Amino acid sequence: MPPILDSAIEHYLNGLLPDRDEVLTEMEAYASSHRVPIIGPACGRLLYQLARLIGARRVFEMGSAIGYSTLWLARAVGESGSVFYTDGDPENVRRAKAYLERAGLADRVQFLVGDAFERLDSVKGPFDLIFNDVDKHQYPLVFEKALPRIRPGGLLITDNALWHGRVARKAAKEDADTRGIQRFNELIYSSPQLFTTLIPLRDGFTVCRKEG
Ligand SMILES: C[S@@+](CC[C@H](N)C(=O)[O-])C[C@H]1O[C@@H](n2cnc3c(N)ncnc32)[C@H](O)[C@@H]1O
Repeated sequence: MPPILDSAIEHYLNGLLPDRDEVLTEMEAYASSHRVPIIGPACGRLLYQLARLIGARRVFEMGSAIGYSTLWLARAVGESGSVFYTDGDPENVRRAKAYLERAGLADRVQFLVGDAFERLDSVKGPFDLIFNDVDKHQYPLVFEKALPRIRPGGLLITDNALWHGRVARKAAKEDADTRGIQRFNELIYSSPQLFTTLIPLRDGFTVCRKEG
């Protein structure tokens, strides 16, 4: 799929990004060769920066795959922080654990295998930040389940908000993913509990601050 931004601008932007360390670089190469849809370095940096800006210590991630976004978050929360990784595929979990161990960050990460919604129900307490990257038809359910679990002043961050531009067109009835994202975007912009911005970086990233 073409990038949201003009390709030359996307190329320029990616060219500005500093090199990543060995583990992130290897994960990016693995994701590219195995078609794992990771957030990539521009959004990884944004996720890290937002987590640092609010001093996030407790983070829940919904849909973590090989742990690429998890690694950015684990760095952001610092030594005393924790990140709850979730993915339904045990092979992804095995791979993510190996990468996080190599990066020296595995002790900050709780690896939870199974459905992200069930795992969220099984963990106590509010979170400073919830990062959503599950299958797209589930996004409206994320709004329902994740919002009550975020502390006031905390963030709900979501990837693929523009879904390669498909959200801008009327979606077919059977296109549950596009419809799920469209509904989610409407919910987060209309909620009086959230202050939302959609950032057209890569495939679109929404940042919602829970106001109260
Ligand atoms: C887009 S990938 C995540 C990429 C990851 N956030 C990153 O950027 O590195 C989505 C992942 O979510 C997982 N997934 C989708 N729906 C899920 C659910 N309800 N519970 C747990 N995992 C889910 C899939 O197995 C897949 O690995």
